[in-house]
Amino acid sequence: MQSVKHYQELKGAEASGIRVTFASKDALEFFNNHPPSALLLGVNFDIKEISLTGLVLEIPERVSMTDVPGSQILTLLQKGTAFYQCPVILQPQQSSTKTLTVLYDEKGVDLEVIARKNAAALAVSETATRKPAVTYSVPAEYKIYCTEVLDFLSDRRTFIERNITPYEDYFTLEETESVAEGLEQTSLTAWQQLCFQGNELVLPHKGDAEARKDLKSFTEKLVTYELVKGLNWNRSYFKPMGYPGDFKIMNYMYDHRPEGTDTYSRYLHMLGLISGGPIVSRMEYISRYLKELNDGSESMYHVMSIGSGPAREVQRFLEDTYEAGEGYSFTLVDQEKDALDYAINAAYRSLAPSRSNVIVSGMHTSFTEMLRPMSTFRHIPQQDLIYSAGLLDYLSPNMCRNLTRKLYEHLKPGGTLLVGNVNDAPMGTYWSMEYVLDWTLFFRSEDEMFDMAAGCQGADVSVDMDENGAVYMLKVVKQA
Ligand SMILES: C[S@@+](CC[C@H](N)C(=O)[O-])C[C@H]1O[C@@H](n2cnc3c(N)ncnc32)[C@H](O)[C@@H]1O
Repeated sequence: MQSVKHYQELKGAEASGIRVTFASKDALEFFNNHPPSALLLGVNFDIKEISLTGLVLEIPERVSMTDVPGSQILTLLQKGTAFYQCPVILQPQQSSTKTLTVLYDEKGVDLEVIARKNAAALAVSETATRKPAVTYSVPAEYKIYCTEVLDFLSDRRTFIERNITPYEDYFTLEETESVAEGLEQTSLTAWQQLCFQGNELVLPHKGDAEARKDLKSFTEKLVTYELVKGLNWNRSYFKPMGYPGDFKIMNYMYDHRPEGTDTYSRYLHMLGLISGGPIVSRMEYISRYLKELNDGSESMYHVMSIGSGPAREVQRFLEDTYEAGEGYSFTLVDQEKDALDYAINAAYRSLAPSRSNVIVSGMHTSFTEMLRPMSTFRHIPQQDLIYSAGLLDYLSPNMCRNLTRKLYEHLKPGGTLLVGNVNDAPMGTYWSMEYVLDWTLFFRSEDEMFDMAAGCQGADVSVDMDENGAVYMLKVVKQA
């Protein structure tokens, strides 16, 4: 499990200065949780920070570093093995402080070299050969299940290595694609069944944080470790933009292309696309809704997407629509500037240049801006359709109620609000997202979906599902 930003913490555009400085790094983080100790004057010190200029050491209890000569030799040790030495100057010490700063007293100290030597010393220490910890807390049934998943993958890998790998370097692009698609199709049902089986085993622990933690780390150690050899599993798990569900991950799902460097990694990527199928059916659901919007009552339809990401449904809608009469104004709201740039460009590329009555604009801000009393959203006209897919899944029930009420206020009479949220059904994405990918969401029940609309006075509220039965769609219609 890793530390990632929660959606409520993502700010969007903010004034920020540009400042470059000598960054001091936390020693635990810098040495991947295995920092060396520092030996100075025969005393062992824990290292708190490391930088290009020196180290900050923690002074052990009952050790005084006042009145110590400034010039010393410092040795770094990993589990008792000395691997680096360097002359240092001790900074003057006040008796009350618990830390000691030492500055390197030679040129050319390279932090990468220190990190590398520390890793090499770690490799010969006992930590590297520690016995595997037996995870008693994980039920045997779940362990067998994870073994079955690995067995399935190993089977497919062997098949690929025997039959495809010898030829893959000579495949044309079409051959590469047709092989990947063939492997995807022949695994579709079996992989879906495995994922559904995973849901059934972990759903009973949904409300038990302790059990979830153990099951998750077991899954990550075994199953995730193998699956991240495929690109979309890898990006979804490691979250290089610092938060889950960035627009590139979403685009992997929508593009549905065999990405990867060899047949097996492309195959794993395709399995990820199977697991992520509900992301696509949710987008298709909204896209169909966009088509139904034009009932001939307006000359301009106002549509807003909150947490729009790449807004592929807008792109798809514009690609498929040829009428020139009515106009559309799309307002895309997202905290990610790159996502908005992508979405706006893609939308305009799908438009015939003659369609000057379509406007696609982005608001680079957080949805929390909407909740402020003097919000910039007060200048936006009332909307025919507001939708949000893949955003409220991250928000607490209370925050969902507040946001839904606010979005409802922004609707025209007769307008509709659509909210897509992953559900807790056995054919959903719970196991693959929460357990394999550490992609934590509120997997909601139907009642929890209705609860979001609790503050929408006079609304006609219903809950529908996507084609895969994995995503609930809350529909809130304002009386005309
Ligand atoms: C899972 S993606 C869904 C994107 C798109 N709706 C779709 O279904 O393809 C969630 C999106 O919400 C955006 N997001 C996250 N936190 C946000 C916030 N506080 N305000 C606005 N957008 C946010 C992310 O940048 C990301 O593009």
